[in-house]
Amino acid sequence: MTDPLIAAAIAVRENAHAPFSKFKVGAAVLDSEGRIHTGCNVENATYGLTICAERVAIFKAISEGGRGFSRVVVVADTENLTPPCGACRQILWEFCGDVEIVLANLDGRTETLRLGALFPRAFDASFL
Ligand code: THU
Repeated sequence: MTDPLIAAAIAVRENAHAPFSKFKVGAAVLDSEGRIHTGCNVENATYGLTICAERVAIFKAISEGGRGFSRVVVVADTENLTPPCGACRQILWEFCGDVEIVLANLDGRTETLRLGALFPRAFDASFL
């Protein structure tokens, strides 16, 4: 049976607004109440204002009151599974800590790792 968080990320990926890169990404995060929050990448003609699927999912979740995230799924249509970019790693770290990250593609390939492995020795609010 398909993991509901992976299924949610695959479904929301279809909403990606990626006319420039044509690279669609879907993300889904699970909060402490068991709620799923999703996001897709939203590109912009100035390119630099593009926002990745992971940040859309996290910001949507936060704005809906979601907290205590335990799992994050990132889905793209790549054989070599797509990891979060550097900016998203920072945002994920600040809101999720050393969370479980599941990378997945449309062929059913998955890899599970911890954010700490992708983003060691992070700067965060504990330094302020
Ligand atoms: N992108 C994401 O949404 N998440 C990632 O993990 C990697 C990159 C988006 C940004 C841009 O819209 C497109 O993929 C190509 O970089």
